[in-house]
Amino acid sequence: MPLTLSVRRADPGAVETPLLIVALPPGATVGEDLAALDGALGGALGRTLSRKDFRGGRDESLHIAGGSRGPQRVLLVGTGKETDRHAALRRAATLGGRLARKLGAPSLAWYSGALDERGVEVVMAGLSAGSWEYAETKTAPPEDERRPALGEAVILVSDEKAGERGLRAGRAVASGYALAKRLGMMPGNLCTPDYLAETAREIGARHDMKVTVLGRAEMEREKMGSFLCVAQGTPQDPKLIAVEYRGGREGAAPVVLVGKGLCFDSGGISIKPAQGMEWMKFDMCGAAGVLGALEAIGGMKLPINVVGLIGATTNMPSGTAVKPGDVVQAMNGKFIEIINTDAEGRLVLADVLTYASRYKPAAVIDAATLTGACVIALGHTATGVFGADEGLVDEVLSAGRKAGEPGWPLPMWDDFKDLIKSDVADVKNSGGRPAGSITAAMFLREFIGDYPWVHLDIAGTAYSESDIVVLPKGPTGTPVGTFLEFVRGRAG
Ligand code: BES
Ligand code: MN
Ligand code: ZN
Repeated sequence: MPLTLSVRRADPGAVETPLLIVALPPGATVGEDLAALDGALGGALGRTLSRKDFRGGRDESLHIAGGSRGPQRVLLVGTGKETDRHAALRRAATLGGRLARKLGAPSLAWYSGALDERGVEVVMAGLSAGSWEYAETKTAPPEDERRPALGEAVILVSDEKAGERGLRAGRAVASGYALAKRLGMMPGNLCTPDYLAETAREIGARHDMKVTVLGRAEMEREKMGSFLCVAQGTPQDPKLIAVEYRGGREGAAPVVLVGKGLCFDSGGISIKPAQGMEWMKFDMCGAAGVLGALEAIGGMKLPINVVGLIGATTNMPSGTAVKPGDVVQAMNGKFIEIINTDAEGRLVLADVLTYASRYKPAAVIDAATLTGACVIALGHTATGVFGADEGLVDEVLSAGRKAGEPGWPLPMWDDFKDLIKSDVADVKNSGGRPAGSITAAMFLREFIGDYPWVHLDIAGTAYSESDIVVLPKGPTGTPVGTFLEFVRGRAG
């Protein structure tokens, strides 16, 4: 159930709600704004703070039973020492949303002092992210055992005008993330290339975007030998999905967002070990990020032109599958020796990056769960950021910081290119284990057109295989925020 978000001017002590979440920094005391709440709680808030039962630390929380009037329950969440107030609020709201869902509160109110427009937005994004769940393929428990799902969140504000503006943005961001996470979590037999195309069409219809879908036959006509060799082992029709959002000046060069959409990556003939192979349903998180960003961009009606491009297929072993040693020719004419059929994402992206040229892009950013090596290098904390255009790299890094999706740059020196030289072709698709993320990026660089480009390796940041405080097991929604903040920055 999507979370209904709204803003209201009210005293936190007076709201009738099953759950009031109050976000507090370290050293907080009961001031004028919390006096009524403390009164409604019979002084419990003041005692809790002065006893230091709750210290306002990052990821700290405390649950207090409500009094006879006002909120039925109060949940304190800490913001920690705020070096960046918006980041601290987003994190606290994510924790709050998560705990609210566990408590089974049908609705909640949030209070964190004065909030500016951006503050309202990040709180909404956090609450929505924290309370997100995927329950579509689970049988619901019997009615009497069912906890109510969190359906509504009200943000308490003092400046209603700023609140309303933040609300519009917050709703858009929340729905973009929710869409990306849902697609990520969906099993591979349901989230197919066809399904991604259908979802793109649905987004396009709601936000007045033009959607074009190329199938195997159309891609053959475009001579996309690199993309198609990945798809030759699967009976499912591969899709190149293009979504055009025209919110800017007519004729203005668009930002092009590219996503790897491997709806399942078995490795192909170079098949992966069985252990953990199920995680490879998440190999379409770059594509989910593109669609999520477009959903948010459409919701915000940003005054800019944006094109989303998705390369969607599955990578399967079969009698018709591409084999190690095969040579294929990409759309840009370059010959590629296939060393490892599990290095398939770069093969798909190669032709999509060539195809991007037709939009005469102002900039192209691709996002892909591209290499296990990136997870080894940066863990689940930072996205790998690659590019030859330093200005664009910095712009993308700062967009990621703003979104709470930090990236870290890795080098693309020419020396690394030696690792992907081939004896029989212009380039080979794997350079082996050394500098695995960098050689993947160097490979992509062979196929970019005449446009500024940045590549994001989100293999470690798009989903989590274990539960971490504000990062529950499953999809994170990365890189929706990075894409969105980049585009917002360009929209001025
Ligand atoms: N989708 C994987 C990369 C991946 C691994 C993403 C782990 C998330 C978690 C990609 O297609 C792949 O298999 N890459 C290979 C490349 C190698 C064969 C050169 C890898 O990383 O092992
Ligand atoms: Mn692979
Ligand atoms: Zn893959």
